[in-house]
Amino acid sequence: MSFLPKPHGGKLVQAYDPNYDISHIEKEIKMDAIALSDLELIGVGLFSPLTGFLGKADYESVVTRMRLADDTIWSIPITLPVSYEVADTLVAGEEVKLSYENEVYGVIKVSEWYEPDLSLEAREVYKTEELAHPGVKRLFERGPVYVAGEIVLVKKPEKGVFADVWLEPKETRALFEEKGWKTVVGFQTRNPIHRAHEYIQKAALETVDGLFVNPLVGETKSDDVPAEVRLKSYRVLLDNYYPKERVQLGVYPAAMRYAGPREAIFHAIARKNFGCTHFIVGRDHAGVGNYYGTYDAQHIFRNFTEEELGIKPLFFEHSFYCKKCDGMASDKTCPHGKEDRVILSGTKVREMLRAGIQPPSTFSRKEVVEVLIEGMREKTTV
Ligand code: ADX
Repeated sequence: MSFLPKPHGGKLVQAYDPNYDISHIEKEIKMDAIALSDLELIGVGLFSPLTGFLGKADYESVVTRMRLADDTIWSIPITLPVSYEVADTLVAGEEVKLSYENEVYGVIKVSEWYEPDLSLEAREVYKTEELAHPGVKRLFERGPVYVAGEIVLVKKPEKGVFADVWLEPKETRALFEEKGWKTVVGFQTRNPIHRAHEYIQKAALETVDGLFVNPLVGETKSDDVPAEVRLKSYRVLLDNYYPKERVQLGVYPAAMRYAGPREAIFHAIARKNFGCTHFIVGRDHAGVGNYYGTYDAQHIFRNFTEEELGIKPLFFEHSFYCKKCDGMASDKTCPHGKEDRVILSGTKVREMLRAGIQPPSTFSRKEVVEVLIEGMREKTTV
């Protein structure tokens, strides 16, 4: 008997078929990197129960009420944008190849196409229409027509340096079972793992069997630390400070949306599909700039019962090193003032790393900092 949660919607979607006959298909849609990653993640079941790119009814329902048309919780629209010219060539019911940089990765059976209300999508999903928001900017750049239909993944994108840490949901589920974990907490990040991240991960691990460190390595905004550099820092951190038998590293090759609260729900569902029973949501999860309140990504979970969501969110307050406490603490546990707390913004830390300046070991482990400075130096000299 399995203790892991059922995939979202009840069944793990498996739409990968490398032998699918595409020889008779002539039409082709060129995807961007985000659509390619969405195609792959639908295909391997990480976005279960989705079996394709959203049709109009599902799309409108997701945008306005965070549910698919059949009421299943779903908070981020997964869509395939094309130009008006491409839309003009489409025929309902026809199969079209999906390509990226001249390679075919999938097939979509076109069910319909429609013009989305991008302003509404921006307001509902991102809570702003400002183009300064990286997710909104991308949304408006991608438009103007969405193509819907079931997909087949015919080729899996190469994973390069991530190959040994990319585990599909069916693999993580088997692995968690094999390890005998009955409870597993998933951790999302688009950043290097600093002491505050480590603190909340380990606090969570005190009460569950396993920790799935699951950094996002898909598209991020250009000033985030590159995923290859982060990967090296995760490896060195885990090797030095984490118990091997209780921790599993695996990447999450999805694009970052920066949709804050909505994305926290989406992240939790994807982790449920990986087989996690719990999911960490700390301060300003998936946030950017000042678009969301510090704990909005926690409050949004009130809209759903844990039973319906199928994964338990674990909420953490803003954490930091406190000099007076002489250890890691949070707003919830530390009585001291701001002046005793080591708090650095992400932007500040990236600036320091780029300039070769080491943030203090109370903020980030020495081994991690060394790898990051080295990695950033290599990246800027290429
Ligand atoms: S992101 O993917 O959520 O944008 P980030 O690295 O900023 O990545 O955060 C990863 C997770 O750690 C999120 O759940 C976030 O809320 C939490 N987190 C980050 N920094 C802190 C902190 N100082 N205190 C508490 N939680 C934090």
